[in-house]
Parts: sequence; structure tokens; C-alpha cells
Amino acid sequence: MQAFTDAILTALAAETGLARDDLNLETPRNPELGDFAFPCFPLAKTLRKAPPIIAQGLAEGLTQRLEGIEVQATGPYLNFRIDRPSLAKSVIESILAAGATYGHSNQGAGKTIVIDLSSPNIAKPMSVGHLRSTVIGAAIQRLHDALGYTTVGINHIGDWGSQFGKLVAALDRWGGDVDLDNDPIPTLLKLYVRYHEEEEGDPSLKEAAAEAFRELESGVDGPVRAVWRKMTTLSLKEFDRVYKRLGVTFNEVRGEAFYETYLEPTVQRIVDSGITEVSEGALVVSLKQFGENLPPCILRKTDGTTLYATRDLAAVFHRWELYSFERCLYVVGGDQRLHFRQLKHVLDRMGLDWEPRMEHIDFGMVRLPEGKMSTRAGKVVFLQDVLDEASRRATEIIMEKNADLPDPQAVGEMVGVGAVVFNDLKRERVKDIAFTWEEVLAFEGDTGPYVQYTHARLASIRRKVEAAGEGSGQCDFAAVAEESTLILELGRFPAVLVRAAADAEPSLLTQYLLGLCRMINSWVARSRVLGQEAGVTSARLALANSCKAVVGNGLGLLGVPAPEEM
Ligand code: ARG
Repeated sequence: MQAFTDAILTALAAETGLARDDLNLETPRNPELGDFAFPCFPLAKTLRKAPPIIAQGLAEGLTQRLEGIEVQATGPYLNFRIDRPSLAKSVIESILAAGATYGHSNQGAGKTIVIDLSSPNIAKPMSVGHLRSTVIGAAIQRLHDALGYTTVGINHIGDWGSQFGKLVAALDRWGGDVDLDNDPIPTLLKLYVRYHEEEEGDPSLKEAAAEAFRELESGVDGPVRAVWRKMTTLSLKEFDRVYKRLGVTFNEVRGEAFYETYLEPTVQRIVDSGITEVSEGALVVSLKQFGENLPPCILRKTDGTTLYATRDLAAVFHRWELYSFERCLYVVGGDQRLHFRQLKHVLDRMGLDWEPRMEHIDFGMVRLPEGKMSTRAGKVVFLQDVLDEASRRATEIIMEKNADLPDPQAVGEMVGVGAVVFNDLKRERVKDIAFTWEEVLAFEGDTGPYVQYTHARLASIRRKVEAAGEGSGQCDFAAVAEESTLILELGRFPAVLVRAAADAEPSLLTQYLLGLCRMINSWVARSRVLGQEAGVTSARLALANSCKAVVGNGLGLLGVPAPEEM
């Protein structure tokens, strides 16, 4: 596709005498008019003519310069229509030549993108919110990888804070009754809930928790720290089971505790910039100038301990110094909007010109059928259970549909987990999701299994044609020339990736794939590949293989497995 737009822009530049970079092509609203349009309005000033006259005047010269592209002036627009067999040949050949790297580029070479993703809290189960962060963040990272950026995915584990004081104190009191090594997270969760409840009627518990956290923050490597370390190790092990199933890895796992030694210099640096004040004994940065009701950013509490925000400020300075990032993307739920606004305002008040590079990539909530979950109340949906259930249900459906499938469990895991991942990426990320099994796992409609099924269907076409010893000859591209809507859509894939990365919006890719799969399935339903004239079978197989490559690459970037059979 790029080859055609390049040729058109070069011809336009030559005809108008303008710089190529100043010229932009559009997609005509009515596809009947052509594949690309050039609006002549911007030329009116320089050429001192009405846009329709300019369009008329340019059409002739452009036609001569552009072989295989029909040029037509329609009012103030120039419309370009690519000769159908040339379009088919060019798009299909470029997809098949690039294969698994079709759509990739090096536009991001030399630029670093930091992605803060997943970031669950130790001693608690990973929530569906953390799953969303993991899935969205990993997709954003893969999209940038494909475009040649250097990416750094950081898991900013929540392993610090006053709640660990509570847990340490709870283990101190009741630890003898529990078996931590066996099923650690539910055990810790129960302890936390119990502590929280009993704290109400017993102020000594509050004091014990505060004391434990003060000791943790003091840096002393004593019994408190040993308990904290054990909780961390056990929790990370549990999280890794989920990451493994999702196929997600991190470049860095740097929990909040990592920034311990950076906290003092961070606070000092902010104090030195002259923007701090003491309010009710706490060290704060007032943010009143950004809004009367905006609460200040607290750097240090009255008792001297630091906060979530202090550790995030330490982290962002550390990242800036290490990576000089182009963007630092925080893939965190919309409920933390205020927190990230506060952080950005602090950087702004410090006069740091890179502040706009810190971006909160927010997302909506997932509502499971059981209703909103709350850790405090102990009413919790475990992520492992959601994935197990997805896998089990998908296996059941697959076995019903395809009794001869060799390893239904393995495919069921691909489809079940893939369905949950796809569902998380399906809509604009800021939207809330109402999770229902029927919708997530449906094989028809806007779902992951539908896209995976399309991929498997294309794989099966290839297997059949190859088994019949057909499809390896010269392609007669005229045989697929009529499928220009589908072919143009395949050609749009690279641009979709660019846009999805720029907007940090994987749903642009999921929506594109859903639309593409509808086109593919309608083509497959009305067109036979096998048993045609040799050139026709070859061309149709080449188109099917191109479709398979694009669907497979798209699913890969989303982190959804692409089965060859299902
Ligand atoms: N652990 C936090 C939570 O579960 C999310 C951390 C997000 N990342 C960050 N740099 N603040 O709420």
C-alpha cells in the first residue's frame, strides 16, 4: 500500500512544486470515488485558483506520471483508484514477503518507551483490574516493539506501605495458627481482613501495625523485614503462574520497595526546588494553583513515613535518569486519575520540561457477574479461577464442535485464556466491561474465539490445498482483483499499528481484526480455493495466506494465541 501512496505523493509533489512532506492523502468517504483522495483546498492560496480548477488542471499531468493508477478530478478533490490486479499483486506480495513481520517498521528506532504495567500488590490476590493492566500494557509494549521502539516494561509491584505493618503485626499475633506456605494468598488475605475488623475495637492493634511499618521503613534488617520478605517471595510466585498463562514477561520487576534508598534524595530534590511546605506536620506540595479543590501531594506524613506518591516520584526520576524516555506510560485503572494528576503537577511545579511525557493510560473497571469485588470485605474473585473456568468452558465447546481435534485441552487453554484477554482489549480502554461468559466465549460475534476461529479456518484452507498438491504455481491476480475491499483492508494493517501505538489504544487493533474477519469469512463463504484453474487457485491461496498472516500477526501483538486448528 505504501508503494502506491508514495508514488502518488511523489507525483503530486512534482506536479505542484510543493514539498512532499506538506502533502496529505485522505480516504474518500465514498469508496466508489477511489482508494485515495487529495483535497486541493490547501493549494488555493499559493496557486491563486479555486480548488476545483486546480484539481482539473492537475489530473492530466498526474495520469501521465502514474502508471496503473486512475486519476479523476471530482469537485475540489483529486481521486486516485489503483488498478485492481496491481493492487492485489502488490498488497499480497508484500504481506507474504514480510510474513510474521508484516506491519512492522523502524519508525521508533532510537526512542525508548517505558511501560508501567500489571503492578499487583503482594499479600493480596491479583485482581481483574491488574489483569486488565497486564493485558493492555503488554499489548501496548508489543505494538511499540513492532514499530522499532526500545521498550522497558516495568512491573511496579505494590510491596510497600502501611498495610504491610498490619500484616506483619497480624502474623506476629496469629501466625502460629496458619500455614503460609500452603495457599499463601488466601491465608494472608484472611489475616488482613481479621486484623482490619478487630482493629476497630482494639486500638493496640493499630499501634502495633504502625510500629511494624515504622520498623520496616527504618531500614533495619530484623524480624519485621524477614516476614515482609517472605510475603513478597510467596506472592511473586503466585503472580508468576498467571503471567505464564498469559505469556507475559517483564523487563524489570521493580516493586515500590526498590526505591527505598531513592526516597530521601527524592524528597530532598523536591524540597530544594522550593515548592514544599509543612501542613499539619506533614511535608506537602500544594497544588491549589491547578484547582481550588485539588488536594496537595503529600511527600511525608507527620510520623515521618513516605507514601505511594513519594515512591512514584522516586520511580519516575529513576526512570528518567536511566532511559530519557520518549514516553512513560502508566497503565493503571481510572480510579487513580487523581494520583497521576498530582504527580504530573508536582513535576510541572518543579519546572521539569519532560512532564508531558508522563502519561496515565487509564482504563475502566471490569464487572464480574458476582459484582464488584472488595479485598477488605474478603469477597474475592481469584484470577486463577477465572482463567481455569475460561479454559474449561472453551474446551467443552471445542470438543462439541470438533470431536476429532487432537489435543482439545491445549486448544481449550489457548481459546479460553485468549477469549478473556481479547475481551479486555475489545473496547476503548476507558470503558467499563461487564463480563459475561456467554459474551466472552461466543464463537460468533465480536469475540476472541471468532478471530481465532477465522485464523484456524484459513490454516485449514492452506492444509487442504497443499495436501491436494495445488496452489504452488504462478498467481493470476486478476482472479482476486474483485476482492479490493478486503485487500485494501489488509493493506491498512501497518497504519492501524501505528495509530494503536500512538494512542496506546489496543482496541483499534481488536476492532480492526473483527472487521477484517467479517470480510474474510464472507469471502471464504462465496469463493472456492481448491480445484480451480492453477493460476486462480494459487492467487486465492495467496490471498488466504495473506489474511492468515495479518490475523495471526494481529493476534500475536494482542497476546492472544492463534491456533492452527480448533
Ligand atoms: N499497586 C498499585 C495498585 O494496585 C498500582 C501501581 C501502578 N503503578 C504505579 N507506578 N503507581 O493500585
